[in-house]
Amino acid sequence: MATIIDGNAVAAVVRERAAREAGELLARGVRPCLAVVLVGDDPASASYVRMKERDCEAVGIESRDHRLAGSTTQADLDALIDRLNGDPSVHGILVQMPLPKHLDAESVIERIAPAKDVDGFHPESLGLLVRGLPGFRACTPAGVMEMLKAYGIDPTGMRAVVVGRSVIVGKPMALMLMETNATVTVCHSRTRDLAAVCREADLLVAAIGRPKMITAEYVKPGAVVIDVGINRTGEGMVGDVDFAGVEPVASAISPVPGGVGPMTRAMLMVNTVAAAAGAAG
Ligand code: GUN
Repeated sequence: MATIIDGNAVAAVVRERAAREAGELLARGVRPCLAVVLVGDDPASASYVRMKERDCEAVGIESRDHRLAGSTTQADLDALIDRLNGDPSVHGILVQMPLPKHLDAESVIERIAPAKDVDGFHPESLGLLVRGLPGFRACTPAGVMEMLKAYGIDPTGMRAVVVGRSVIVGKPMALMLMETNATVTVCHSRTRDLAAVCREADLLVAAIGRPKMITAEYVKPGAVVIDVGINRTGEGMVGDVDFAGVEPVASAISPVPGGVGPMTRAMLMVNTVAAAAGAAG
């Protein structure tokens, strides 16, 4: 029987901590504020944005909603980012991804002032992570690290295998695990004999985006398994891990839903409060 890593419970503790810090800032006359930009009407993105705004309310962060039509031009979006960058009452800027195809996501990310980059996607934030310097850390991998800490799982000396090399999850996840002294392997779609590499892992992080791809044959008995996948399927939301098959083999496992998802949002709150604290000096 594996320990089920309860992301909702850990996220609640993280939010409480952020709420205390937000309260302290408010007492100094600074109300943390997150600008949330949503372009188009993708229902999944709209639902993520709603949940983020609900979290803001719970923590005492003001969220400012900027909903733009799917036909918005690059110039209009750039102008909005410039305005938010220049607005001292806005501490964090979140542009919900993915953007409609006609917009250049890379240039939008680079346009956000690094001091307001609460998603941790800006090249400067990623560069600071690579260098091991303080900066905004991408919310999903930061949330995974926080979950591990909450359950007393210290990556030091562990063989960690990250499946997925995205710039949002896989790459920063590998760096954060390295920072905490794990021996890290990053796998991807071209990895040969993926199952054999995964079976070497004491800590396996699945961030592939393929429903239930990680089955028991990928998991060493006693491994810690973290499921970053969010796949909307006919049977509802499922992770990248075949939970029913893997749970009996693992020592600890994060479920979907109720695992990494709420942690990602909680870390966004932490980053936004930190951005406000940084601006308040
Ligand atoms: N789309 C999926 N995940 C994320 C995220 O963490 N931040 C933003 N801005 N968009 C996303």
